[in-house]
Parts: sequence; C-alpha cells; structure tokens
Amino acid sequence: MNQEHNAATFFNSFAETFDTIYDQKRNPFMRWIDGKFRSDMFLRYALTFEKLEPMAGRTVLDVGCGSGPYIVEAFRRGAERVTGLDPAPNMLTLVRQRLAQAGVAENRCTLMEGLFPGTSVEPHDYAIVMGVMDYVEDASSFLKALRPVVRRLAVLSFPSTHWFRTPFRKVRYDLRNCPVYFYDDARIQTLCKGAGFSEVRIQKIPGAGMDYHVSLRP
Ligand SMILES: C[S@@+](CC[C@H](N)C(=O)[O-])C[C@H]1O[C@@H](n2cnc3c(N)ncnc32)[C@H](O)[C@@H]1O
Repeated sequence: MNQEHNAATFFNSFAETFDTIYDQKRNPFMRWIDGKFRSDMFLRYALTFEKLEPMAGRTVLDVGCGSGPYIVEAFRRGAERVTGLDPAPNMLTLVRQRLAQAGVAENRCTLMEGLFPGTSVEPHDYAIVMGVMDYVEDASSFLKALRPVVRRLAVLSFPSTHWFRTPFRKVRYDLRNCPVYFYDDARIQTLCKGAGFSEVRIQKIPGAGMDYHVSLRP
C-alpha cells in the first residue's frame, strides 16, 4: 500500500473530528488549541477566496476536498460547477450533508472518490489544493498532473518546516501511519516551475506560520 493510501485511510477515520474544526463544534480547550495552532487553516481559507476572483460562472476542482468547506463557499460566491475529489468516502458523505444544508442543487457538484493523480478529471478554471501536499509523497508527479487540468489559476498550501512544531507533527502522524512531508520556498519554486507552471507566487502565512499559500498559473 503506498503512502497516499495510508493518508486516505487515516482521513477516512478522522473525517467527523476534522470537520468539527471548521464549525467550531469542539470543546473550549480544543477551540483554544485550534485558535492558537490551527489559525493557518482559517487564513488559507480566506486567502484562497481572495485569489480566486472572480468566482461567478467559473468551474472549480477541489483536490482533497475533505468535508467540503471550500466547495460550499465556492458555490456561495457564484461558481457554476464544482468537482470535489477525495479518497476518503466518509469525507464525501460530509460534503453531501454540507451541500444539502446549503441548498446547493446536486447536479452542480460532482464528487469523485479517488486519489490525485490517479483519477481522471477534466480541466477546470480553478483548482484548490488545501492541506493536501502535506500527505503527497511524490509532489513532482502531483504538480505535473495538476497543470493540464487548470485553465486559469490553482491555489495550493504547502506545509513549511518549523523548528518546534514539525518534529511533533511528524511523530504524531507517523504514529497514525500517515507520513507527512515539508517544503521550503526554493523547493516549491523548483517543483512548480518543473511542472510547467508559468507563474509561481508564494506567500508565507503569518502567525502560526506553518503554511505557504501558493498561486500557480498554467
Ligand atoms: C487535511 S484534509 C484537508 C481537507 C480540505 N481540503 C480542507 O482544507 O478542509 C486533507 C484531505 O486530503 C485528502 N487526500 C490526501 N491525499 C490525497 C491525494 N493524493 N489525492 C486526493 N486527496 C487526498 C485526504 O483524504 C483528506 O480528506
């Protein structure tokens, strides 16, 4: 079994818990932890929609869509059609619930269970890849497969190395049999240019500072 399958198995069992981070459904202590150490998740969400303008009438591919917070927001901002891809079926169940709650017509959203690369997807105007590169063993192949399916802009997060947090995160995920990978600015540039993207913009998210937010033009 390759490492991506391990990540898929882990996220399938962790789906409900992961989803509570977004909806602030956790107990006060965990909410404090999330506010302090997971602020990146909220900042990258805001930055993503700042970059993906205009959204009205666009098609969006969300790779590693998880429980679907980006899918629902893309529709709220006027996306015409969204494809969500994730290997964890429990995550996709949560997406269906979110879409129903938001009143989005089912035929506007295609949900695909599978890994990227490895699942055939059509080109979309925008691609969102948030919180996924952390679990991708072969980032170069991933990015090379991504470029032809993006027409206008792709936004991705890449985790950076942090002297204090990285070793803890690595041990925590290794114990869950879900290896994590880390990047620096130069490596992101090399990987993205090597995949044929014409423009690579890298922004370090402030605060907890663990993520790079990257915009790529094909
Ligand atoms: C940390 S969650 C992020 C979910 C969502 N993008 C978000 O930001 O809320 C990572 C998700 O990526 C999925 N994933 C991991 N490796 C993947 C791959 N190679 N292709 C597609 N999805 C993947 C996992 O199943 C999981 O749902």
